[in-house]
Amino acid sequence: MRKNQLCFFACVTLCLWAAVTYYLFTHRPMSTKVVDSAFKVEDNIEELELRLKKQFADNEQLLNRLKDIIKSPNEWKGDSPSEVVPVPDNENDVAVVPVVEVKPPQEESDDELKRVRAIAQRQLPDGGPVIAVLVFACNRVTVKKCIDQLLKYRPSAEQFPIIVSQDCRHKPTAEVIAAYGNEITRIEQPDQTEIEVPPKEKKFRGYFNIARHYGWALNETFFRFSFNTVIIVEDDLDISPDFFEYFLGTFPLLKGDPTLWCVSAWNDNGKVGLVDENAPELLYRTDFFPGLGWMLTRDLWAELASKWPPSYWDDWVRQPEQRKNRACIRPELSRTRTFGKVGVSNGHFFEKHLKFIKLNEKTVPFTQLNLDYLLKDNYDVQFVKQVYESPVITYQELKSGSIVHEGSVRIPYHTKDIYKRTAKMLGLMDDFRSGVPRTGYRGVVSFMYKGRRVYLAPTANWKGYDPTWS
Ligand SMILES: *[C@@H]1O[C@H](CO)[C@@H](O)[C@H](O)[C@H]1NC(C)=O
Repeated sequence: MRKNQLCFFACVTLCLWAAVTYYLFTHRPMSTKVVDSAFKVEDNIEELELRLKKQFADNEQLLNRLKDIIKSPNEWKGDSPSEVVPVPDNENDVAVVPVVEVKPPQEESDDELKRVRAIAQRQLPDGGPVIAVLVFACNRVTVKKCIDQLLKYRPSAEQFPIIVSQDCRHKPTAEVIAAYGNEITRIEQPDQTEIEVPPKEKKFRGYFNIARHYGWALNETFFRFSFNTVIIVEDDLDISPDFFEYFLGTFPLLKGDPTLWCVSAWNDNGKVGLVDENAPELLYRTDFFPGLGWMLTRDLWAELASKWPPSYWDDWVRQPEQRKNRACIRPELSRTRTFGKVGVSNGHFFEKHLKFIKLNEKTVPFTQLNLDYLLKDNYDVQFVKQVYESPVITYQELKSGSIVHEGSVRIPYHTKDIYKRTAKMLGLMDDFRSGVPRTGYRGVVSFMYKGRRVYLAPTANWKGYDPTWS
């Protein structure tokens, strides 16, 4: 039968190749220098043996995969039609098994690991930090757009090495990533087993896969490659020209202020009309973890890694047990914007909200600015004063434009429902996570309305977030 012949042929080819490889390894002519040291030879042989064993294991895996494909070509479904491995029409075609091309990158040599570790530990001439950019990819070839922008705006390859981590084994995406060659480091999430998802959550399977991918890739980046700091980027993000300058400028804050645990490029209420487009240098502290282009340190990852959740990781990090009252830095004008996602996040949310986020265009020299005002001790005093000295108004007064007062104003709220209703009328995000409203700091949400600074703020005797608000 044709299928069996095919299988047999593949088997013979692989065995023959392995045998030749083995012969070449063991009968390799030794130089006299190597023979000098018996230990060294022994080491070498041991290493070769290991590699060979691995090679055999790989071959077997490959063969099994091939057998599976031959057995049931119709059952083998990929995410897209182009992912389906073609079954050759005649046995002469068997030599071009496409599976060989998508060999997981981590099966490459230890030299690769050494190379990346050296990058992670490099001392830069100006004493600045090395910050890895970790791009998460799955089955969207549009990751190219994201990587191209990172390469375009990156001020230094040494300072911002790019790692692209792929899940999903989507071949067209893998090819797009591989085409960057040595410009980036490519890693691939090896565990492609189907995750057990509670029946009720079947439609959220994507979130389980994402959490697994994050856990794995962050372990690789921090613990195996030994980077100290990482910026996480997803495959659907546009970035602003000063994206890197923003993270570099805020890096000392993240290192120096233990009440900060992330720097995010994202303003959840960063829509046109709600932001001050003339204040691209303006930054805030926020108790709401924004994500969407964010920087974290190895210390934080060391804290989260061992209890990383199986799904919905972003809402999990927003829980008090993880956040521990720490804040993130976020900009007035977003330094990232999603260009639309077909996948786990729903398209409705994009159409209604995400696509109106204003991406900053003016470059701000953050590394030249004094950002000490963002340190907790300085910020809290100043922020509370600024907010609570602003005169109280109602939404109706704001809307009618009848306020004579120049400068910032405050709309108070004291219940969840009032917050939600007011936020909705103003076009703000009205949801809570673990009781924290989006962009909130000490319960205060800051935004622009018809060119005026407005604070939607709890009463001055605010006692902290109520996690039951949702
Ligand atoms: C990541 O590393 C931590 C700490 O070593 C470990 O507990 C965790 O299981 C790892 N996660 C994954 C997904 O490998």
